[in-house]
Amino acid sequence: MISHKEVESQVLVIFGASGDLTSRKLLPEIFNLFRKGYIPEDYAIIGVGRSNYSDQSYREKAVINNKYFKKKEKRSKEIQKFSELVHYISLDTSDPSAYAALKHKLQQILPGHPDPNVIFYLSTPPMLYKTIAHHLAAHDLNTEKEGWKRMIIEKPFGYDLETARALNIDLLLKFKEEQIYRIDHYLGKETVQNLMVARFSNSIFEPLWNRNYIQRIEITSAESVGVGNRGGYYEGAGALRDMIQNHLLQLLSLVAMEPPNQMSSEAIRNEKDKLFQSLRPMSATDVKKNVIRGQYTSANVRDKQIVGYREENGVHPTSRTETFAAMKFFIDNWRWAGVPFYIRSGKRMPTRVSEVVIHFKPNHLQLFKNEGSDHAHNILIFRIQPNEGILLKFGLKVPGAGNRVKDVNMDFQYDGLTQDYVPDAYERLILDCMQGDSTLYARGDSVENSWEFIDPILKAWKNDPDIPIYGYPAGTWGPEHINELIEGEDMAWRNASTNLSHDGEYCEL
Ligand code: BG6
Repeated sequence: MISHKEVESQVLVIFGASGDLTSRKLLPEIFNLFRKGYIPEDYAIIGVGRSNYSDQSYREKAVINNKYFKKKEKRSKEIQKFSELVHYISLDTSDPSAYAALKHKLQQILPGHPDPNVIFYLSTPPMLYKTIAHHLAAHDLNTEKEGWKRMIIEKPFGYDLETARALNIDLLLKFKEEQIYRIDHYLGKETVQNLMVARFSNSIFEPLWNRNYIQRIEITSAESVGVGNRGGYYEGAGALRDMIQNHLLQLLSLVAMEPPNQMSSEAIRNEKDKLFQSLRPMSATDVKKNVIRGQYTSANVRDKQIVGYREENGVHPTSRTETFAAMKFFIDNWRWAGVPFYIRSGKRMPTRVSEVVIHFKPNHLQLFKNEGSDHAHNILIFRIQPNEGILLKFGLKVPGAGNRVKDVNMDFQYDGLTQDYVPDAYERLILDCMQGDSTLYARGDSVENSWEFIDPILKAWKNDPDIPIYGYPAGTWGPEHINELIEGEDMAWRNASTNLSHDGEYCEL
């Protein structure tokens, strides 16, 4: 079970109904909710797109023949019942008068609910967000006379601080902040939510969770894949915009925020926002010193020839878009003053892993250091993916003579909780929106405040041609220089030394 809250009758309108996200994630995850009994009796989905489909032909395409539904599911009776909830309307989103047909469909679709509760899911290119919001409003589809109206939007929320602000202003002209749900799928991941639970429901962690006991915190999100067929989009984004501004800063806020005074959406999001406000802004000199960017180059990885980023489809042959970024920064508040934080994210790394690593300070007196010990300090790792879990490293005595201390692991893995089902991020987040819970969605002011931190980095990169972009061979942990970011002797990024064998070369691009 993922929630016991009531789910009211409602309609989900998906703009971008023939898009990849709709078939890959949205419909399969809503089907999961349906099977588990979370979908209310009076419920309908309306797919909206430019292509021409009848209700039936859309059902065939988006549900019955959708390759992202498992074969077994497709044969079940439930799939037939589920597909009957799905409808389609062809509409040119840029034509304001076309929305009259959508309004009419909404008035008819649930008998007895002429003004139903509605979620508008904007699974479209972001440049359409303003247009759709304004055209919906022109037909009164933003007002909540009887039924509530909510809108989910996908990242990117802006391209930089200025465009993020402009987007917020545009949306807030027609929808209230409480109606806008900015989805960040990292917040729907189980271990991400567990950061809060681990911190605030265990008396052993929170007393240590501060500058007195923590030496540094690392957040890593590595992907082994490259940009694939998304070169066109990625060229205008890069790792900083694509992963760090949103997913990884959201993660950071849960790691570092103050305890909320209650578990309400507003209380939690207030604390997250305060954290974003405390990020120390970087000057152009800080960016040079504390941020490293890289781009993967071709290499032979595990006997397979991998092309470099510049050879990918849709990518300019002299592109300076980063596929890797790493940075060191500080949070200027009482809890974290002086503690360095490190974030890195990249494509074509040796493996796919996302984790938060808390490095505790070593004991003041190292009683066992002359006994050949290899234990330096305690480390707590939240593994977001894969193999979600939590791991604590601590020192224990090696059996036998002397007091040699060795690192051992206390390892908890989610799949050990066999009876408990771990929902996919989208399943959890969509259900939250259906129930009006915005806790795991990003609030407008936080989005702006996180851009406020990222913007000077983007500007410095744009304005200073002397800031290098390093090439790193596909299949490695990014530019070699990233260890120079880590403060303190003998310290390195976790795992950063376990490069796979590759025959590419590090270089400055
Ligand atoms: C998306 C990015 O938001 O997150 C992708 O646009 C990235 O580039 C993806 O691959 C990573 O998500 P996950 O859940 O696979 O870690």
